[in-house]
Amino acid sequence: MIQPAFPACRPRRLRQSPVLRRMVAETQLCSHQLVLPFFARPGKRERRPIGAMPGVFQLSVDELVKDAAAAHAAGVPAVLLFGIPDRKDEKASGAYAQKGIVQQAVRALKRELPGLLVITDVCLCEYMSHGHCGLVDRAAGSVLNDPSLPLLARTAVSHAEAGADVVAPSDMMDGRVRAIRTALDAGGFADTPILTYAAKYASAFYGPFREAAESAPQFGDRRSYQMNPANAEEALREVALDIAEGADMVMVKPALAYLDILHRVKTTFGYPTAAYAVSGEYSMIKAAAEKGWIDERAVTLESLLGMRRAGADIIITYAAKEVCGWLKG
Ligand code: PBG
Repeated sequence: MIQPAFPACRPRRLRQSPVLRRMVAETQLCSHQLVLPFFARPGKRERRPIGAMPGVFQLSVDELVKDAAAAHAAGVPAVLLFGIPDRKDEKASGAYAQKGIVQQAVRALKRELPGLLVITDVCLCEYMSHGHCGLVDRAAGSVLNDPSLPLLARTAVSHAEAGADVVAPSDMMDGRVRAIRTALDAGGFADTPILTYAAKYASAFYGPFREAAESAPQFGDRRSYQMNPANAEEALREVALDIAEGADMVMVKPALAYLDILHRVKTTFGYPTAAYAVSGEYSMIKAAAEKGWIDERAVTLESLLGMRRAGADIIITYAAKEVCGWLKG
């Protein structure tokens, strides 16, 4: 980097007017980078508010299609689907049922809004009676890695069969990207991309989501499969593994407290990289804004811009629809 010698160096010259500031801005936040999560539940005309996430609901498929249409019309290009099934069991049957809740939502969305990109979260926790992301050995109190892989692969294939454009495994079992890629290819879905939650941390910022998805673990926690927040080098190994196993896009989650990871993942691998601004990040901004302590719009846009600056190509955020409006306004 060449630095002019004093007194030529006056950075404020380029901050004098909005036009100039915009012209030399290094980072842009655009609506085409955003993904809006949805929670699908059984029933009709159901809109159940989620206490800790104002503006977010568990929606029956008919309502979900309406809200997705409104978001799409506002400029949101993609959605990420989670499901809350009727019944949970010990083998997560609802996750890969042909008529499962996510599968129904995908079919309806692709029928009504073919131009909307539909990404599905591939995990078992919402469908397991114990709330863990894989099969469990109750006696040992442990989550079983390899036996969970076929269930995850089945789930991904069933989403692709329903019409999902992208599948996004979030379980953090080792080897799941390979298992899913192999199953998708064998099932005739060689062209379905995988967006892997590659560096997913065991984070307290998921608190509000667990209310939303009714997926809090009933014993123990997720620290034997999700990453330790203390580790950065390990995140690079996780990402390298997922890429070697066939991932097309990689994700870092949560976003704000992990911008260093995002930056290193993007600069190390150069892959399409997503940041997930998780439920707790959304709730904190909403709560402080409701109290009048911060400016919701300005703080949301500044945090998302920070994620872009750190290296995110894609941002998953519960605020995607509002953000599209703000970016136009
Ligand atoms: C499922 C999953 C979780 C989130 C996304 N997928 C919860 C968890 O791992 O406990 C969190 C999303 C959020 O907090 O917004 N495994």
